[in-house]
Amino acid sequence: MALADFISRCDALAEQAQKAFASADSADALEAVRIEFLGAKGGQLREAQKGLGKVDKADKPAAGKRFNEVKNQVERAFAESQEQLASGKSQAVDTFDVTIPGQPVRIGRLHPITQTIREMKDIMGRLGFTAVEGPEIEDDWHNFEALNIPLSHPARDPLDNFYLGGETASGGSDSPLLLRSQTSTVQIRVMENTPPPVRIISLGRVYRPDTADATHYPMFHQIEGLLVDRGVTMADLKSVLRLFCQSYFGGDDEVHVRFRPSFFPFTEPSVEVDMNWRDAAGNSGWMEMGGAGMVDPNVLRAVGYDPEEVTGFAFGLGVERICMRQHGITDIRALYQNDVRFLEQF
Ligand code: DAH
Repeated sequence: MALADFISRCDALAEQAQKAFASADSADALEAVRIEFLGAKGGQLREAQKGLGKVDKADKPAAGKRFNEVKNQVERAFAESQEQLASGKSQAVDTFDVTIPGQPVRIGRLHPITQTIREMKDIMGRLGFTAVEGPEIEDDWHNFEALNIPLSHPARDPLDNFYLGGETASGGSDSPLLLRSQTSTVQIRVMENTPPPVRIISLGRVYRPDTADATHYPMFHQIEGLLVDRGVTMADLKSVLRLFCQSYFGGDDEVHVRFRPSFFPFTEPSVEVDMNWRDAAGNSGWMEMGGAGMVDPNVLRAVGYDPEEVTGFAFGLGVERICMRQHGITDIRALYQNDVRFLEQF
């Protein structure tokens, strides 16, 4: 074989091999190319080497030199390709693809009852009522006695209250403590410590041993209102409740408030408060909101007020009921199951 032929065959081989190694884009592809050119049996380099034996004797040194150069080139191309693949892999791990959509962060929100409470405080605040708080663990005096609920009254029944076994009120009284069953307790706490006039609301949890169903839950919230001053009448009570309901539900729509005669030991006269409003879905109908009335003179006397000097009205409404009506919630339990799919709708 002529030297020129051998050399051009070597050059072609080198070029081919370099291209093939450069375009190998996976470990498998690289291995295939390696076998094709560097394979011990039938590899192209090995085949070319066989041609070396056929070159004229005088040309052998030149031919051998060229062959060795090509062999080095091919081996280098293999090593480079191998390196590139390896570094390419680690690059992929370290690289941050800024075009990948982010993972959205869930934004928290206030519980619907918290939202309702805040809105109620806001509305009543504008009507001049200060929000105050009272303890959820109460004694007999504040939950019953001072509210004109005598010892024999069925409201004190252990089956209707969460009495705290063994605990008694400080000050030597041996009547047991209980989880308050109504926020009316706060009326007493405020009047005991403040001379009239008073104009307060109190929003908070109350507890009754009811079995949970669509409309009952052993813990719920009430909004309590109390206004005591000279010359306060039922008309003031109705105006305030109507304004409250109109502000909470109304917008431009008419909201109606109706009183039905009732009885509570701590008010005289006493009424049941109903409200009517047509919601966005067109539903309307009277809804019972809670109780109200003129503060009983016995209650005023119990806190040291003079019923000849001042009169007052009080009301206690169910917060859950109002919240549920506003949002069209039909089962009170949904408010306390903490299912995010439910809560994130508000
Ligand atoms: N405390 C009553 C209850 O839980 C509701 C109530 C009625 C509160 C009349 C009042 C009131 O302040 O005047 O059923």
